[in-house]
Parts: sequence; structure tokens; C-alpha cells
Amino acid sequence: MTHFGKDTHGERSHTCGSLTLAEVGKTVTLKGWVDTRRDLGGVIFIDLRDRFGLTQVVFSPQDNQTAHAAAEALRSEFVVSVQGVVQERDAENVNPKLPTGQIEIRVHDLIILNASDPVPFSLSAHEEKSGKVNEELRLRYRYLDMRRLGLQQNLILRHKLYQITRRHFSDNDFVEVETPVLMKSTPEGARDYLVPSRVHPGHFFALPQSPQTYKQILMVAGMDRYFQITKCFRDEDLRADRQPEFTQIDVEMTFATEASVQRIIEGLMVKVWQELKGVTLQTPFRRMTYDAAIRTYGVDKPDLRFGLPLFDLSTAFNGSPFRIFNQVLENKGAIVGILVPGESERGRAWLDKMDKDVARKKLGAAGLIYFKWQQDNTIYSSIKAEVLPTEFVKKGLEAIGAQKGDLVFILAGPQPKVFEQMGGLRLALANELNLIPDGEAWEFLWVTDFPLVERDPNSTEDRWYAMHHPFTSPNPDDLPLMKTDPGKVRARAYDIVLNGFEIGGGSIRIHNREVQQQMFELLGIDAEEAQARFGFLLDAFRFGAPPHGGVALGLDRMVMLLTGSPSLRDVIAFPKTASAQELMVQSPDSVDDHQLEELHIRIVMPESKK
Ligand code: AMO
Repeated sequence: MTHFGKDTHGERSHTCGSLTLAEVGKTVTLKGWVDTRRDLGGVIFIDLRDRFGLTQVVFSPQDNQTAHAAAEALRSEFVVSVQGVVQERDAENVNPKLPTGQIEIRVHDLIILNASDPVPFSLSAHEEKSGKVNEELRLRYRYLDMRRLGLQQNLILRHKLYQITRRHFSDNDFVEVETPVLMKSTPEGARDYLVPSRVHPGHFFALPQSPQTYKQILMVAGMDRYFQITKCFRDEDLRADRQPEFTQIDVEMTFATEASVQRIIEGLMVKVWQELKGVTLQTPFRRMTYDAAIRTYGVDKPDLRFGLPLFDLSTAFNGSPFRIFNQVLENKGAIVGILVPGESERGRAWLDKMDKDVARKKLGAAGLIYFKWQQDNTIYSSIKAEVLPTEFVKKGLEAIGAQKGDLVFILAGPQPKVFEQMGGLRLALANELNLIPDGEAWEFLWVTDFPLVERDPNSTEDRWYAMHHPFTSPNPDDLPLMKTDPGKVRARAYDIVLNGFEIGGGSIRIHNREVQQQMFELLGIDAEEAQARFGFLLDAFRFGAPPHGGVALGLDRMVMLLTGSPSLRDVIAFPKTASAQELMVQSPDSVDDHQLEELHIRIVMPESKK
């Protein structure tokens, strides 16, 4: 008997991923979505899909005429319940790729639980890898997108990461404490998302950019060890590895040192990679100072899966007649090289592309210089010998350790920009030359000794900005420099980097009211403002605040790397687009006038949107 709608089959006996030869002969009940349907002259095959897998289901008039007739109506994404007998597939129909690939179900009863309109893109597990579906369409119909295997697997891995994280911290005496989502602005460097208060006209909550101040207060409160898997909100320019709403594994420890924080995080990473990837990570991870990272890789999050380190060649070119080099050196700039082994025979077209498209256009450099120590033992320089004599070219090649067959690229310019540009060239070269391993290489690194403060390169204001946040402790050895040369003060801050991505950052904090005030002063936050914004923290520091420190990991970024996904959008159930919109529910959205009135808010549209 075939029904439509009413489910008289009762509960499913198995999922669509569980049946094997062991169940042959059994009568089973399966429920799921029609993944594909094939009508092979009288016999209808469907692949029935759920989160657990696919099972081949066969409707034959010989088994049951009514069920077979009803199966004619089935289309992709119909939801059905089937009852039938598990049978071994004919040898030629075995699918070794599927766990259920050796069996099929001969159906004797079908219930169509729900129909489906034709879907806007195929969800079939068989086409999963095609990946050609327009992303906006996928986000608009996220519930369909999520029926696909890839996204489901990502979300399941993410779920497992939560479990491992909770177990790890709980086993190490950490307490999970929730902190408010409606809070007060914390300075993590981005714009805040604000929530107007109805009860307090003209006042706003800020959504946390991180629970930074709360977790420090928890240390003052004697919680000793805190962690939380928590949402953070930052209104900033978005990229593939940045979402306005993202998740941190947030950690804080009393009586912490850099080493104790790093050790607990390394312990977590070891468990995560072991359980989720079957990979045994070696600890301790590598360490590198910020300064060394910039000078050797041109970036504070170096990808160590390949070499191509930068060399400072300034000394080698000292005293050359080349005007451009001399100007750069006089202005305290640097001449930086990269040795590309075995690429001396690269032709003009490729070298021009690296110069024009990469160095100039993408990285904003003045121009790329190159030397080739060619196979025939001649040396070619892109700068004519009248301008840069061969003797200096040779000196450069020697200083960088070049050999016959090698190519050397050189940029000259102001510091630290020239190192950053060379870091960009290093990445471009790695892609060009296919140096990034395809397989799973995991290069973890702690970057340490960040500067405490920096100038904002995008601002004309003559003031210092906290490189991490204003609660980061200066290195006590550098305290005298706070007044005389703040740019030279090192912070007790560290980032954890994986394959060129910053997956976490933290620091030992200031726990002393005077030092905190000194830091606010340095950042141009006067006593009055400091009291208004962070009075609660300064007050708390008066009552026996213990030394403390911590870290926060970007959970989404970890999942992105663990799953090999190109974007955070592939590891978040309901992500936002690059223009900070959620396409499925269509947010942000306008609200009723009376809601605005209640909140004492009036909209003033910018000219461009009128
Ligand atoms: P920080 O600002 O470095 O530190 O953030 C910690 C980690 O969070 C991740 N992250 C993001 N992931 C996705 N989208 C974003 N927009 C985004 N912004 C940051 C990164 C980053 O390393 N309170 C401090 C931590 C501390 O000092 O303990 C903080 O939030 O992986």
C-alpha cells in the first residue's frame, strides 16, 4: 500500500549510511531524500540520502507493483520512507566507493513524506565535487547547500572540535564561563556593532569584539583558569578569512607565563590534529620573534611550508654607484633579496610578469631587479653594467649564497615596507613555482616579542596604537623606553600561526593599575576617558589583581585549515557575504518606524543611498 503524507512506517531502522552485507535478508525501514533517480526500463533505482550516506533503493514491479508505480512520481529531494529487504548487489553493480555499495534495498512499500519543487542547483552527492554553483545562490538557499555532503562534513568536524576543546580545557582545570553579549565597547581595533538601549535613551550596548576585559576580570575574581567557545563581533573589512561574526576559543590563566599559555594551546592542537586528522604533531612548536619574521619572511604570519627566505643585501651594495640603491640606503631603507634556486633560465616574459603584475601592480613596489647566474656561467643583471657594475652584482650573488643556475630577485625601498613587499613576492613565487605542498603539511609557529605599539600606516594622526590591545603587558626590560622610544618597546604578546594564517593571539596582561594608566596615556587615552571606558578594570586592579595572561584562537580559521576550505564561509552554518549580509534571512534589514521610535532613533540616510 502506498501512502502520501501519513507515515505509517514508524521509526527508521537504519540510516542511509549503515547497511552492509551483514544485513542481507533483513527487512528494513529507511527514510531520506531522493538524491538521484534512474528509470532503467521498468526498474527504478533511487539513491536515498541522509547525513550518514547513500543507499541504493530499487523499485521493481516484480517486488511490488504499487510501490513501483508510486516511484514514478519521485523527483530529486522528495522525502520518502521505504520498507524493503536488503539484498546483495550483482557483482557488476557493486560500488566500492560507498560503505553501502555492496547492497541495495528491494522496496515493497513507499511513502512519500513530502514533495520538493525543482531545486535551484543540484544537491546530488555524486556532483559534490563539481563546486561550480554560484555562491550567492548557495547562501540564499543555505538549507539546500547544507544538505550537500561537503558542508555537512565541515560542520561535523567543527562539532568534534568543540568537543575536543571542551574536554581538553575541562581536564586541565579550566572553567567554562559565559560572558555577556550585550556589553561595553572593547578596543580590539575594529568598529563595534552597537545595540541601542530602549530603557536608556541615547545609550548603546556594544557587541563584544572579544570578551577580553571580562576574562581579565574573571582572573581578578579568582576563577584561576577560564575558557569559553564564544562569538565575537567586529565591523571590519571582510576577506576570505574574516567574518563580522566569528568564534573564538577564548582562554585566560592566572599566574600565567608565555610558556604556560603556549603549552596548554600546543596540548590542544596535538589532540585536535591527532583525533581529527590522525596526524601526530611535534611539540614544542617553533618560535620566532616578530622582528625575525618580518626580516626573514616579510610578514608576521609566515607560511613555513616552503623556503625562499628574504636576505638583507644592504651591506653588499654599500658603496655601489647605483643611485637608487644609494638613495634607499641614505634614507635608512633596505635592499632585500630572494634566492630562487635553479630558475636562472626563466625567460623575459615571465620575469616581466613578476615585475609588472606582481611587484609593481600587486605589491606597489617601485620595480623588481633580477640577476641570473646562467647555466653557461654568464651572469645577467636587469640593471645595466654601466649603472650597477658587475663586481657589485657578483657581491650580491655571493652574499645571498647563489650558485650557477640560480635566479635572484631584489627590491629596494623604505623599511619595513620593502620587507613586506618582498614577503608578498615570496608568496607569489611559491604559487608560481608550485612550492606549497599539495598534501597535508602543518607548519605551526609562535611569533613572539611583538612591538607594544605601532603607528597606524593608514592614519595621518601622530599617535600610537596598541598592536594587540591596550591590556598587553610591556616587556619589563623595556619599561624605561615607554617614555623615550615607545616604538621599541616589546610586548609580552604572541601569535600562533599555521601555514601562513594567524589562528590565535594572546599576551601576558598588565595587572597593575599604574602600568595600565601609563599604557592608556601612551595611546592618548586621558585619565577621564580611561575612567569612563575602563574604570571597572582599573578599579578591579586596586583589589589584589593577580598576574595573568591568555590567548584566543580563531575557531573558524582552524576549521577552515583542518578541512582545506578556501573560505570561512564554508565552515560556518550561516555566514555573511563579503558585504556583511546574510542572504538567506536577508539581514541586515529595515525595521518598523515604531521600533525606531521606541529606541529614540531617527535614520539619516547618506546622500548616496537616497
Ligand atoms: P585577536 O584579535 O588576535 O585577539 O583574535 C584572536 C583570533 O581570532 C581570529 N579572528 C578572526 N577570525 C575570523 N574573522 C575575524 N574577523 C577575526 N578576527 C580575529 C584570529 C585571531 O588570531 N582578546 C584577544 C585575545 C587575547 O589577547 O587573549 C583577541 O581577540 O584567528
